[in-house]
Parts: sequence; structure tokens; C-alpha cells
Amino acid sequence: MSDVNFSLVRARADTPGVNHVVHLNNAGAGLAPQPVVDAMTAHLELEARVGAYEAAELAEEGIARAHGAVAELLNCAPDEVAILDSATRAWGMALASVPLREGDRVLVSPVEYGSNHLSLLHLVDRLGVSLEVLPVDEFGLVDVEAVERTLDERVKLIATVHVPMHDGLINPVAEIGALARARGITYLVDACQSVGQLPVDVAVIGCDLLVGCGRKFLRGPRGTGFLYVRREIAEHLDPPIVGLDGIEWTSGSYRLARGARRFETWETNAAARIGLGVAVDYALSWGLGTTWPRIQRMARDLRKQLADLPGVQVRDRGLERCASIGLSVEGRAAQWVRGRLKDAGINTWVCLENAACHDMRQRGLTELLRVSLHYYNSPDELDRFSSTLEALAVGKHPQVIT
Ligand SMILES: Cc1ncc(COP(=O)(O)O)c(C=O)c1O
Repeated sequence: MSDVNFSLVRARADTPGVNHVVHLNNAGAGLAPQPVVDAMTAHLELEARVGAYEAAELAEEGIARAHGAVAELLNCAPDEVAILDSATRAWGMALASVPLREGDRVLVSPVEYGSNHLSLLHLVDRLGVSLEVLPVDEFGLVDVEAVERTLDERVKLIATVHVPMHDGLINPVAEIGALARARGITYLVDACQSVGQLPVDVAVIGCDLLVGCGRKFLRGPRGTGFLYVRREIAEHLDPPIVGLDGIEWTSGSYRLARGARRFETWETNAAARIGLGVAVDYALSWGLGTTWPRIQRMARDLRKQLADLPGVQVRDRGLERCASIGLSVEGRAAQWVRGRLKDAGINTWVCLENAACHDMRQRGLTELLRVSLHYYNSPDELDRFSSTLEALAVGKHPQVIT
């Protein structure tokens, strides 16, 4: 099937990195498109010329666009979005703001990102909440019916990752959301690996809080993360840190700002914020309805190709699967394979046990080679990756690209 609205030529012409590398580490950080590079470079140059505060005054519109663009992407209002400097910080701030007490039950998906899981373990130590891992089905997906059976009035928070860091599965976040919403349980979704890759609509998911990352499939700058806070629950959340942008002065005192702004302080990397807005607008200009089916098709074909390679095991699960493929090569350390691929001009990544500590430990995995493609990858690039991997798996050293 052809992509009627998609032009690979245009996507690649917009992406300077494709002239230098086969980039299959989009789950780490996507290659930035030229409009993002241009907008950020221009702002840094403006800062150097006129002063950073003065540049921010001149670029007010571009800086403010980040909230509007993320809101459009997630189908919410701009005042329901806080822009922060990482998803980990956004997730941690969200968690710390939820009123939890000793004895409350907190449920978490087994494929939760390592830092998130650690924040929860820390919460167990600090507050004495009870942390329980959500049951999964034979595809590794959160088992919604089993979750429903375990819910009671002590469950105060459900945290799920939409797409994990090390696997292609897509959790049924909307079905979990319906359960949480019906019982008034606070629901926090980590969408770092899904935003920019597949449609993420907070109204459809029915979450109270959702965290995203700028640098991955959105192809924005590093050091950018965002937090969606459903307007109706914002008033009940108490962020652990407040700053000038997160409060409103009242006569002689202050109150927390309305909406998601209470999670923001003041200082920001203006160039990064501009870059985030441009990256989201760029993603919206293609439309997730165009790029997501293409990603799915490419990933499906690549999985098929890899499954036929001798010595290569595709490890990921799920029913509908996405751009990240976790695999191992028999008798080869993942880091060694990654190194040889890199020598051949192909970027991949290694996920260690700490990436999704609960899941990896349970499955007895200490490492996985992660291959994560994007819509701008070409069929030739994927063939080159497959044949290089095949050569490595059967003991041949691939040609080194200099
Ligand atoms: C699923 C998931 N959640 C959260 C994060 C953390 O994002 P950040 O590094 O911006 O804090 C990552 C990063 O890889 C991730 O893959």
C-alpha cells in the first residue's frame, strides 16, 4: 500500500542526519528536522547578539507556541500543559503532587521506565504506600480484566507506560483509563515513547496526568519534557517545588497557579522550548494519521525480516506493535553488536536491565539490542541494517564505514 500523503523524499530532504548515518535509535532521540535546527540556532544566535532576556522578549510568540503545539498534539487545552526539562522530572513532579498516604495502594505496569519505578520504590520507603505490579496477559500487555478484579477503595493511583523503552508493545491505556475514571482513581500515563510515533489523545485515554518527551519520536531537542494535567484535578495536586511561574500573588500571599502551570518554575532553555514547539508543529504538519501507519508497516516488515535471520531472536511482545524492536543475537553481547553496527554507520541502542527493571528481571534478560525506526528511514537503510546484522550473527565482520 502506498502512503498517499507521505513523501519519503521530502522527509529525508528535511533531515540532514540521514546523509551521515542510518539512524535506528529514534526511541533514544530522533534525528532533528531542519526547521527545528534552524529555529534553535537562530534563537541562540539572537541571544548572543542582543542578550538572552532581550531575545526572549523578541521571541515571545515562538516560546509560547510550545504549550499550544503540545496541547494540539494531545487534544487538550494549553493551560493543561506544563513544559519541563525532562520527562523524568515531569513524571516525578506529577507523582509527588498526588495526595498519597500510608496504606494506599499504587498500581504500576511491569514495563514501567526504570526511573519511574525507582520513584515509586522511594515513595514506598518514604510514605509506606503499597506498590503492586499490574497483571499482564500472554502478550505482555496489562490485563485489563485482571486489573478490574484487583481494584478497591484503597487504590489511589494507577501508573502505566503506553509504550515501554525496550519493547514494541502498546499497552491498552484507554481501557485502563476507563476503569480508573469510573472509580475516581488518579491515572498517570507515561507516553514518552508514543508521542510523535502514534496518536496520543488524552480525552480518548481518559488519564489525569500524562508525560511526554521532546527528543524521541517528536524529533525535538534534548532537555525537553511535558506534563498534561487534566484541568479538573489540577486543583487537588500539590507540586513539591514551586517557582515564580507556578504561583499567583494574592494580597500579601500567594496561591498555586491554576491548571498545569503550577508545575512550572521560571527559568527555561528558550531555544529548546522554541525547538519543541517547532518539532511538534512539524509532526502535526505530516499528521500522525499519515506517519503512524507507515511506521507500523515498516516495523512489521522489519520484524519479519529479522525473524528469519539465523541466530537473531526478536524478543518483543504485544499484539499491535510499534517502531521499537528488542532483539538478541546468539552468542554476542548486545554492546558488541551495537559497536559493530555503529562502525558500519548504523545507530542502535542497548537497553540494560535498569531500563524496565521489573520486566527485564522477570524475563531473565540483562540486555537487549533495541532497533527503533522512524518514518524517515528508507527501505534501503533497513535492508542495510538487516544484512549487516546477519553478517554479525553468522560471525562475519561487516564493512566499516568511515
Ligand atoms: C518510557 C520512557 N519513560 C520515560 C523516559 C525518561 O525520559 P527523560 O530521559 O526525558 O527523563 C524514557 C527515556 O528513555 C522512556 O523511554
